[in-house]
Amino acid sequence: MQIKDKRVIVTGAASDVGLAFSKELLRNGALMIVMIDIKQWIGEQAVESLNNEFGRKRTVFLCCDVTNNSEFDTKLKEAISILGGLDILINNAGIINETDFSKTIDVNVTAVIRGTLLGIQQMRKDSGGKGGIIVNISSIAGLRAVSQLPVYSATKHAVVSFSRSFAQPYHYERTNVKVIVLCPGLTDIPQDVSQNISNVSLQNDRHQRVESVAHGLIYVIRCAQNGSVWISEDGKPVFEVQLPDTLPQKTEANITQTKAALRHCSEHELCARQALITVLCHTTVPTTLFFKYILCKIYKKHLTFLIYSMICVFIYTIEKLVKILIYIQNLLKCLYNLTQDKYSQYHEIPHRCLSYINTIRMVSKFSRNIRITSTSSRFFSFTAKNLNRKLVHFFTYPNIQSSFIHGEYKPSLRIVRRRSSASERAKEIEAINCIVSGKNVLITGGAAGLGYAFLNHFLKHGAKKIIILDIDAETGKRIELGVEKSCGEKKVHFIHTDVSNHKHMTEAFEEASTLLGNIDIVINNAGVLDERRWEKEISVNIGGMVSTAMLAVQYMSRDTGGHGGILVNVSQHVDIRNTAQLPVYTATKHAVIGLSQSLSDPYHYEKTGVTVITLCPGLTETALTVDSPNKLLSRVMKADFVKNLEQFPIQTPYIVAQGLMTILRIGESGSIWVIESGKAPYEVYVPNPRTLRRHYKNNFPHVVDTKVAEGRAIREVCDSTRTGLMSCA
Ligand SMILES: NC(=O)c1ccc[n+]([C@@H]2O[C@H](COP(=O)([O-])OP(=O)(O)OC[C@H]3O[C@@H](n4cnc5c(N)ncnc54)[C@H](O)[C@@H]3O)[C@@H](O)[C@H]2O)c1
Repeated sequence: MQIKDKRVIVTGAASDVGLAFSKELLRNGALMIVMIDIKQWIGEQAVESLNNEFGRKRTVFLCCDVTNNSEFDTKLKEAISILGGLDILINNAGIINETDFSKTIDVNVTAVIRGTLLGIQQMRKDSGGKGGIIVNISSIAGLRAVSQLPVYSATKHAVVSFSRSFAQPYHYERTNVKVIVLCPGLTDIPQDVSQNISNVSLQNDRHQRVESVAHGLIYVIRCAQNGSVWISEDGKPVFEVQLPDTLPQKTEANITQTKAALRHCSEHELCARQALITVLCHTTVPTTLFFKYILCKIYKKHLTFLIYSMICVFIYTIEKLVKILIYIQNLLKCLYNLTQDKYSQYHEIPHRCLSYINTIRMVSKFSRNIRITSTSSRFFSFTAKNLNRKLVHFFTYPNIQSSFIHGEYKPSLRIVRRRSSASERAKEIEAINCIVSGKNVLITGGAAGLGYAFLNHFLKHGAKKIIILDIDAETGKRIELGVEKSCGEKKVHFIHTDVSNHKHMTEAFEEASTLLGNIDIVINNAGVLDERRWEKEISVNIGGMVSTAMLAVQYMSRDTGGHGGILVNVSQHVDIRNTAQLPVYTATKHAVIGLSQSLSDPYHYEKTGVTVITLCPGLTETALTVDSPNKLLSRVMKADFVKNLEQFPIQTPYIVAQGLMTILRIGESGSIWVIESGKAPYEVYVPNPRTLRRHYKNNFPHVVDTKVAEGRAIREVCDSTRTGLMSCA
């Protein structure tokens, strides 16, 4: 779409990126812009200066808090009447505030969705409009979670997913409104925002100038296709990323790729950092995680963590390990060994091993410098046979990723298949019992559907005590009494609470912790599907999930007196092509992926010892699914929705709960698991967005920041560099 003579609304426009957007739009010929922001004085000043520069009455300021629903509605309508219509809407208002997360959710998700819905309503072709463009401003954190910003990452994931759902042909054919996502990387951060980012490393990353993002926006408005997602970072020209419709499955090929990357990691680069390495090596650790962990440690200039080796191939390494100090060169040799698959056949050994106490004693003999955390039930043990041969050495450090440790229990991807033989199944059950038995579990939304199935499986596998948090008091109480009757003891406690109310949740966790002593496993499951009450959907599915996750980490965290634990966040297996009728629900479930990915980063794990796993069930037969056709944004969608739903096989909650037990056994921190069509769980991953760059025949050349600062009109950049493939409306 050409920008000349277009009527535009920009939210969050008083300063920074929003102001740069307005300026650049005017420079490119926009007829008039209504700038909406909460900062009245700054906004009015900005409007005055823009009017001075570009001519009177080309900008109007409206003061509005976008989190105030009725005010935002009214101001948007007022803006449209001032403009005499609407062609372009930029939903830019956003904040970073990890402590007041409900505010962050309100600004970053609810207001963006409200803006999009109102914008579409005004511009839609089938209601007499002419169509238009909506650009939703997400962030690079919406494509790849930032460990220091779990809430922000979750909200920005929601924006990406919501926009992609609304850009499906199902909507576009009716509305003629393009919905596009722009994801800026780190951009000049205003003071108040930077104060909210505690981690210095993030602040030290390279920032781009706001003008650079504004140039990107102009390019996107002029050239982007409906539903496309764009990244603007490092002051370079925007580029489009081709996100997959569904999260790709992890395969052996992924691992091989990572191994190849590992092999090619630069020795020089590692040596330059003079990292002191104490450890290395593990047989079944997914190399992605391992590699990431190593780099993270190297960055901190000291590496002290685990080496576990049980095969001859590591004998020479072991000798050096005993001395504890291993330099980078050895690390590289070990990495090389790690990349060989010679030892994969040993992955089953830990299941047969029972005597870890002997192992600890033996390891202690090797070195007194090693501290061993033996309290963790995830500790694995070794066979006497291995001990005798003295090939097995186990070293650990208190801060080690426990996923590396319990990784030992795990079979490689190749054997994460449903086992058919009875003996194998018995073995599997025994292994699950090892993880679950004697554990205290908390399940949100445990009174019905999936939550109730999870509860039954935890009981079956010998959980010590289970707390269910649910809004349905009657059913919750009934379950509590029913289990007491059948077990003869009070194994299940029900706490009546609404997960979307953080204050109630804090009290509920306090009560749960008093009842249980220690919480070991939290299943963050409560969720609703109701597009008609989409604000509630956001507050339960994002607010409730964030609240539960934060409290779970707080109560299980080692650095606040807990013993570590497992947090499972329940998302949904999504194929974006089938989400047109559920845009808000899909957004909330995608937010869970962002939240989980952020919390599972080694940055958090080191402090907390909490393994964070994401579970993505496919279509499952529960009240949520059965009622869903009656809970869509509009009744006219029902027939198409039901037709769509009928394409997929529906599974029982029992199958999902059974899969969850397997995942608890084999899932590592950060892993995302899908259970669909009644099949065994399989692992998926979030691809690095920078590897998904869409390549055109004539990629436009790099535009450096200095040119941006001079205020070069984007038309020049775009026109001289336009790709032949993109269709400009
Ligand atoms: N059913 C599916 O096909 C499916 C697929 C993928 C993911 N999921 C997800 O699984 C989770 C469970 O869904 P389900 O199918 O079992 O739904 P369900 O409606 O059968 O059960 C949801 C439970 O959550 C409780 N709940 C709802 N709002 C709550 C609140 N504010 N506070 C406390 N408890 C609340 C309900 O009372 C109920 O017990 C949800 O997060 C859902 O998004 C479901």
